Amino acid sequence: VLGGAALAAAGCGGGSETAGELLASRARLPEPFTVPLPIPEVARPVSPGRYEVTQRVAAVEILPGLRTEVWGYSGTFPGPTFELRRGSPAVIGVRNELPVPTSTHLHGGVTPPGSDGYPTDLVVPAGYSSAHGHPGEVLHPVVKDYRYPVEQRAATLWYHDHRMDFTAPQVWRGLAGMVLVRDEEEDALPLPRGERELPLMICDRSFEEDGSFRYPHTAHSTGAGGHSAGTHGAGTHGMGGGAHGLDDGTHALDPDYLEGVEGDVILVNGAPWPVAEVTAARHRLRLVNASNARRYRLTLSPKARFTQIGSDSGLLAAPIDHDTITLAPGERHDVIVDFLNYPPGTHVTLLNTLSNGPQGKVMRFVVTRRERDDTAVPATLSRPPRAPRPVTTRTFDFRRTNDSWTINGHRYQPGVPLASPRLGTAEVWRLTSDFHHPVHVHLAHFQVLARNGRRPDATDAGWKDTVDVRPYEVVDVLARFDGYRGRYMLHCHNLEHEDMAMMADFEVV
Ligand code: C2O
Ligand code: CU
Repeated sequence: VLGGAALAAAGCGGGSETAGELLASRARLPEPFTVPLPIPEVARPVSPGRYEVTQRVAAVEILPGLRTEVWGYSGTFPGPTFELRRGSPAVIGVRNELPVPTSTHLHGGVTPPGSDGYPTDLVVPAGYSSAHGHPGEVLHPVVKDYRYPVEQRAATLWYHDHRMDFTAPQVWRGLAGMVLVRDEEEDALPLPRGERELPLMICDRSFEEDGSFRYPHTAHSTGAGGHSAGTHGAGTHGMGGGAHGLDDGTHALDPDYLEGVEGDVILVNGAPWPVAEVTAARHRLRLVNASNARRYRLTLSPKARFTQIGSDSGLLAAPIDHDTITLAPGERHDVIVDFLNYPPGTHVTLLNTLSNGPQGKVMRFVVTRRERDDTAVPATLSRPPRAPRPVTTRTFDFRRTNDSWTINGHRYQPGVPLASPRLGTAEVWRLTSDFHHPVHVHLAHFQVLARNGRRPDATDAGWKDTVDVRPYEVVDVLARFDGYRGRYMLHCHNLEHEDMAMMADFEVV
């Protein structure tokens, strides 16, 4: 698949819908819709405004009867859900008991640069020493306090590992979870809550025969990795070794990763094709695509609409009805589904129409009984910030150049910003590409202005931080740089592309 053929095939318009290399599982897989949907635990503060979470290795049951070793926040996959409130700053102390360095990014967070999860700002295990680290690398031994001012609007965010060169294998191993920011504007709305608000983190994985996660090159990997970066020589692959060595400048394309990695098992909240009982009433689904490379076009069968109330960065001004919801890696959608449309007893399946067979199934809802429902979806949801007038336009071209995935022809180089927008201003960023690249911008939130000069998709509405740029597409976004000065990143959220250097710094000045 290495080479022009795959890229050319992927480029032939909207018809080609997968973006990654499908990796077949070797383990016995359960029948879809037999495993109950888990809901991740909500993290409790250890003192007002302070949370502590330990990243550790744990064995969990994902496939019935088998144990899977995960690298999880709190030893769970997904990690705990953090419920934060606008106006209440939070400190999250992240302790690293894994065998590898980590960096935690709050995706969608308006976060000061020192807590944004910069790829070389690492929390390292006890005894770790960097044999040949990246220039500018910062090592925090064992614990780092991430400080979140939480001045942003209510939104569905998520957090995940962001370690330089190793994000894809470390997230695959389980380092991801959800964050729900709440605020008074949202509290005042009669939306479903409690048991009828379901955070749904969707991702795909593959499994070895013994239940362990399968990832390219695991056979050659050093397993959990070493306590010294020296054990990750260039050419060491797999979950321990990452997509390539730690030496700077070795971001070579790997044929097994070229398009990103897709698993053949679809997990929701860490469970394979789960099933959940719901009452015949309105439910709020917080959809998060935490997959490394897989995109979804979600639909319900039997048919019902999704009423979208929120995008990546918070509530929309007004609800929008959709028959299908597209979700690229990193994107979120906040939707209401009214199960009153179905008679009790109905099995409602959430499907992904971009795939066939088992990968085309996501999860199932079983409608149990009627329930009094005094929720509603008001015609006016919120007053999102207005789009300011842009001061300039910049182009970022996401493309394969020679042997790398690059932005404007550059491989990622920490500390070398490609743009320096001014704090408090807005800019048009024109994103162009040769392939499917879900582009994510840290700190800044944006609105999609146009795709190929035309109206954006219906599901592009609202303020966002991630947009799927499709093959040979030109996507214009209006980004506002509010919050903090400092060094941030934009990158492709196909995590294998990110590790293969499709990332760039920008500096808010
Ligand atoms: Cu969700 Cu820079 O990533
Ligand atoms: Cu990409």
